[in-house]
Amino acid sequence: MLFSAPSLLIVAASFGAAQALPRACRCLYGDPCWPPEAEFALLATQVSQPLIQPRPPASACYPIDSPSGNCTDVVSNWYDGNWRADQVGSMQSPNFETYIFRNDTISACFLNTTLGFPCTQGSVPVIGVDARTPEDVQAAVKFAASHNLRLVVKNTGHDFLGRSAARGGFMVWTHQMKNITFTDSFVPAGAPDTEVYENALTLGAGVQWHEAYDAAHSRNVVVVGGVSAGGSVGAAGGWVQGGGHSALAPAYGLGVDNVLQLTVVTAGGDHLTANSHQNADIFWALRGGGGGTYGVVTSVTYKTRPSTPVIASFFETSINSTTTGPTPVLEKLFEEFVRVCPAFSDAGWGGYALLTPASEGATLGLQFFFIAPNISSAQANDSLAPFFGFANDLASKSTIENGGALQILANFSLEVDSFYTWATTYLHPGSQVGSNTELGSRLIPRDVIEKDYKKVAQAVLPFGSGTGFYLVAGGAVSKADPSSTGLNPAWRKALIHTVFGATWPDGTPVPGIRQAEEEVKKGLANLRAVAPNSGAYFNEASLFEPNPQVTFFGSHYKKLRSIKKKYDPSDLFLVAKGVGSEDWDDSLNCRK
Ligand SMILES: Cc1cc2nc3c(=O)[nH]c(=O)nc-3n(C[C@H](O)[C@H](O)[C@H](O)COP(=O)(O)OP(=O)(O)OC[C@H]3O[C@@H](n4cnc5c(N)ncnc54)[C@H](O)[C@@H]3O)c2cc1C
Ligand SMILES: *[C@@H]1O[C@H](CO)[C@@H](O)[C@H](O)[C@H]1NC(C)=O
Ligand SMILES: *[C@@H]1O[C@H](CO)[C@@H](O)[C@H](O)[C@H]1NC(C)=O
Ligand SMILES: *[C@@H]1O[C@H](CO)[C@@H](O)[C@H](O)[C@H]1NC(C)=O
Ligand SMILES: *[C@@H]1O[C@H](CO)[C@@H](O)[C@H](O)[C@H]1NC(C)=O
Ligand SMILES: *[C@@H]1O[C@H](CO)[C@@H](O)[C@H](O)[C@H]1NC(C)=O
Ligand SMILES: *[C@@H]1O[C@H](CO)[C@@H](O)[C@H](O)[C@H]1NC(C)=O
Ligand SMILES: *[C@@H]1O[C@H](CO)[C@@H](O)[C@H](O)[C@H]1NC(C)=O
Ligand SMILES: *[C@@H]1O[C@H](CO)[C@@H](O)[C@H](O)[C@H]1NC(C)=O
Repeated sequence: MLFSAPSLLIVAASFGAAQALPRACRCLYGDPCWPPEAEFALLATQVSQPLIQPRPPASACYPIDSPSGNCTDVVSNWYDGNWRADQVGSMQSPNFETYIFRNDTISACFLNTTLGFPCTQGSVPVIGVDARTPEDVQAAVKFAASHNLRLVVKNTGHDFLGRSAARGGFMVWTHQMKNITFTDSFVPAGAPDTEVYENALTLGAGVQWHEAYDAAHSRNVVVVGGVSAGGSVGAAGGWVQGGGHSALAPAYGLGVDNVLQLTVVTAGGDHLTANSHQNADIFWALRGGGGGTYGVVTSVTYKTRPSTPVIASFFETSINSTTTGPTPVLEKLFEEFVRVCPAFSDAGWGGYALLTPASEGATLGLQFFFIAPNISSAQANDSLAPFFGFANDLASKSTIENGGALQILANFSLEVDSFYTWATTYLHPGSQVGSNTELGSRLIPRDVIEKDYKKVAQAVLPFGSGTGFYLVAGGAVSKADPSSTGLNPAWRKALIHTVFGATWPDGTPVPGIRQAEEEVKKGLANLRAVAPNSGAYFNEASLFEPNPQVTFFGSHYKKLRSIKKKYDPSDLFLVAKGVGSEDWDDSLNCRK
């Protein structure tokens, strides 16, 4: 008895475990195992809002499918990130609304109705919960877990790798969780009374940056956040869980470095408060280990700082040439720009450089808009003078016949009263949404630039128009302890996040799409060769990275995987290339 009891226990335990193992595949819409109507009706009684039935946004332009839709509204707002975020069935990059079958036909609902394709559901989940409270999220998570559904967490749908969509899936939509609160003296749960943060900002999962910035502005404080047209990116969803870069990051750290506390619903349906004093392991993982992987975050509490004036600098060129593509004069200018980036960083600048599109009479150019909080105008001018001087000199000697004529359209700095004013009135970023997009990117370490800035410039220039060369690392990002969060340690050595993309028109046959993807893969290989020991930013990256665990998480991968196992043993939360995804096939619907 004494001996057999433990072995019986082991048998029982392993038998129990075998039974508890999820089925090999998720249950998708249309499968015989999909829950019957009655089950959804029961779920509807447990949540605060009617269930949602997402449709691709262009379905309004197909009257048979959507008789009550307003196609005019869809057409006029197609490129507006805030409008897209409000549409439950819309992804910011419409290619992620589509689904490509094995036989290379595409299920999609194209805006252009004259292409001749029917409007079909693609990768837009068919049903879900419009969550307003943590209790709504708990009900949705428990429902998905008990029915073995493919669970999708969608906030704004901005994800550049399609992680907020899945064909035949069940959606938790967090977009309407708009709670914003300030706490004058915030003490994280479980912390000693002496650990106090003034003016902490707690954001519900659905708050977007424009809303968070308005709230911070009304209190005269500043919070580290994303910058884009209309401020449509989510402030408490995938942005921060993947890292969260900002023009303010070089001054104040990345999004993950500014989180004081998170609340999260885990796969078991528990609602946890996580910070460095309690549930510290999931707190670590949720700061950089990727969205949609450990649970549904219901709120994020951020550190804020008193708002200060910022110096803003602007640089813009126009290059005339008889040739297209990167001109020799741009090559010289961009090489010099890359060379001085470490000095810009040391001076306190952060922000965005871009290769600007060819326009009438002009070819590919260079533009940057940087800010430095809390430096003097004299310091700013001193730090910009060498590069502006180089550019002026280059411009004065350049000609159309001999390598391109460079004209400087902007080269100045000015004092702006706050980050808020800069982000809302001085910046006019173009729309990054509404077009089919695949990205590629790399974090470029400072030492790589110092060793061979020309090689970096040469790898980036061919990506052409729209390529980003973002000064969002270095400074405070490099000073943070790499082990303090789950974020890819490559960020801490990086100075620049460079990102490029491929795009294609709707209706492009699959081989054309694959060709665009091949271009991205080639560009990525070039970037990897330049910075082989670095990595890439999980949120703005390629689905085709050959070694995603190392590239996106580096040496933190193993620890992230074990934390995920602890909180989500059945892999309810899965996203493309995310932690744990390697145990599943490419569709993420079946275990390997
Ligand atoms: C126009 C535009 C501008 C951008 N600007 C910046 C920028 O300035 N800085 C920057 O760092 N990045 C920027 N990004 C990239 C951005 O960080 C990613 O697109 C990010 O995934 C957006 O998160 P989201 O929650 O808004 O979007 P979603 O697509 O809804 O979600 C993204 C991922 O996070 C998961 N997720 C969302 N909410 C939750 C939650 N509450 N709990 C758990 N998982 C969740 C989703 O499942 C998905 O996997 C930009 C993207 C776009 C399209
Ligand atoms: C349709 O949308 C357009 C543009 O947003 C708006 O002006 C119009 O009033 C809408 N029509 C209806 C019937 O709602
Ligand atoms: C391609 O596959 C899909 C899904 O199996 C099917 O519905 C469709 O009819 C197929 N198309 C062609 C042209 O074979
Ligand atoms: C829609 O598709 C048709 C057919 O391919 C094409 O001629 C037309 O230019 C497209 N319209 C738009 C607005 O892209
Ligand atoms: C909003 O935040 C306040 C203060 O933190 C809290 O009391 C309230 O329950 C929250 N509401 C929702 C819907 O989460
Ligand atoms: C470039 O061409 C544009 C339009 O053709 C013209 O306005 C501009 O002055 C030219 N710039 C230079 C430097 O030649
Ligand atoms: C501004 O810079 C000074 C030193 O130059 C520093 O003491 C102060 O804390 C900074 N303020 C902010 C808000 O960063
Ligand atoms: C800006 O460019 C113009 C034209 O090239 C030049 O005359 C001026 O001196 C430049 N200003 C600075 C601050 O470099
Ligand atoms: C810095 O340069 C700007 C123009 O770019 C000028 O307006 C400002 O006066 C300069 N500031 C100082 C302190 O020299």
